[in-house]
Amino acid sequence: MIIAVIGAGNIGGTLGKKWAQSGHTLRFGVRNPNDAKYAGLRYVGEVTAIGEALDGTDIVLLSLPGGAVAEFAAQYGDRLAGKIVIDAANNVRSLEMHNLAVLKDKAPEAHLVRAFSNLGWENFENPRLGGVQIDLFYCCEAFARPAAEQLIGEIGLRPVYTGGLEAATTVDAITRLWFALAMGQGYGRRIAFKLLEED
Ligand SMILES: NC(=O)c1ccc[n+]([C@@H]2O[C@H](COP(=O)([O-])OP(=O)(O)OC[C@H]3O[C@@H](n4cnc5c(N)ncnc54)[C@H](OP(=O)(O)O)[C@@H]3O)[C@@H](O)[C@H]2O)c1
Repeated sequence: MIIAVIGAGNIGGTLGKKWAQSGHTLRFGVRNPNDAKYAGLRYVGEVTAIGEALDGTDIVLLSLPGGAVAEFAAQYGDRLAGKIVIDAANNVRSLEMHNLAVLKDKAPEAHLVRAFSNLGWENFENPRLGGVQIDLFYCCEAFARPAAEQLIGEIGLRPVYTGGLEAATTVDAITRLWFALAMGQGYGRRIAFKLLEED
């Protein structure tokens, strides 16, 4: 698949590198493609302006600050029709952490996913803890589910589907739990969650 990663910092860089290793074509869309901090990513994929990165892509990962997603959606929403758009961005200081409403409004024909938002990026870089595979709780629209499961699996995580987009608040509650434990209670950023099931 051709994947546009919009915002190429901790999350975009980490996920993009792994997807490239899985054989996907990566395009990193950033405000200043010539910034020296993106030099390493040029070995992974193309580093371009945001609009250019979207051309001809199947998948779009939003890994920019949560507060920047509304502006992105307003500017590029009409170019997201038919694409699978993964919202990984968090509005960390707002009641609503995701940006699905504005994405639905500005890109009604995109297929939305809420994923990669509720664990620190270090857990995506190394998706095992104590020898156990980390679970990633996510939600999405039906059309996007097979691709979402594939892309989560390629990071090395086990996808746990929590429902359609109405489950986004549940997915984001896990983010709040992660923050409360990792930062508030001093467990540190290398913590994650596992769904245990009867054999
Ligand atoms: N860090 C984590 O562990 C983690 C985990 C889960 C989810 N998230 C979420 O993922 C998102 C990215 O986090 P991160 O840690 O990867 O951030 P980061 O390292 O600071 O990278 C952010 C990227 O977004 C770009 N950007 C910043 N403001 C922008 C704007 N107004 N328009 C377009 N691009 C802009 C930055 O490029 P410039 O050089 O142009 O500023 C940079 O490439 C955030 O919403 C965060 O809440 C983070």
